[in-house]
Amino acid sequence: MKTYFIAGHRSGIGRALTDLLLERGDAVVGLSRGSSDRSNPRLHEIQADVLQWDGSGLPDRLDGFVYAPGSINLKPFKGYKAEEFRSDFEINALGAALALQKAEKALREGQGSALLFSTVAVGQGMSYHASIAMAKGAVEGLVRSLAAEWAPVVRVNAIAPSLTNTPLASKLLGNEARAAAAAERHPLKRVGEAEDLAAAGLALLDNPWISGQVLGVDGGMSSLRP
Ligand SMILES: NC(=O)c1ccc[n+]([C@@H]2O[C@H](COP(=O)([O-])OP(=O)(O)OC[C@H]3O[C@@H](n4cnc5c(N)ncnc54)[C@H](OP(=O)(O)O)[C@@H]3O)[C@@H](O)[C@H]2O)c1
Repeated sequence: MKTYFIAGHRSGIGRALTDLLLERGDAVVGLSRGSSDRSNPRLHEIQADVLQWDGSGLPDRLDGFVYAPGSINLKPFKGYKAEEFRSDFEINALGAALALQKAEKALREGQGSALLFSTVAVGQGMSYHASIAMAKGAVEGLVRSLAAEWAPVVRVNAIAPSLTNTPLASKLLGNEARAAAAAERHPLKRVGEAEDLAAAGLALLDNPWISGQVLGVDGGMSSLRP
């Protein structure tokens, strides 16, 4: 049985990944702020804000680490306040770095693998995405830097999703017209489901010869012009 730490295990992509790992018989240490609605003997939950968390509850050995908290705060550039740039950076990038520092020893012990989340809006310029693109650009830099520093013991990769049907994206998919327009914008003619992202995440966590990569799981958004 392998053991995985998942920050953001309570909803969206982190939840779908937790489900996949529990289904295949692994153990999950999940961290989120809210209280859980489920119980499983192989799920150990930590209720904390990841930005304040002191690392307590982490096991001595980890096979995998996932950082799934994030934000979507889209607006014209002139409308962003300094505090918004700061909080987007903190939850997307700084939180990941601080959690990885806490998990490093256990990840080295388990020769584990780390998975972070970027966004399609780093590799593609998208209007109104300045703050999240800045924050997730930092995540991509962290992934490549740490993958080099921790090789060959610990692998570090990221997924760059396009719009995915989770609580985080609910405002953007909130009515039928918006959801249909969002699906239409994607070459594969639908938005992502949490399970699409979780399956790709699991593949990156498992593959022993991939490190320092950012994988687009985005319905073709980053690379196709049909
Ligand atoms: N959904 C999309 O369209 C999309 C697109 C591009 C990139 N992404 C990225 O993909 C990743 C996963 O997104 P998602 O859509 O699955 O998000 P989500 O549905 O909002 O889930 C985020 C999880 O993180 C937890 N969380 C949030 N803030 C936290 C904090 N301060 N401390 C501890 N836990 C916290 C939440 O639980 P609590 O609220 O209980 O803390 C929840 O379990 C994110 O990094 C996001 O930026 C998503």
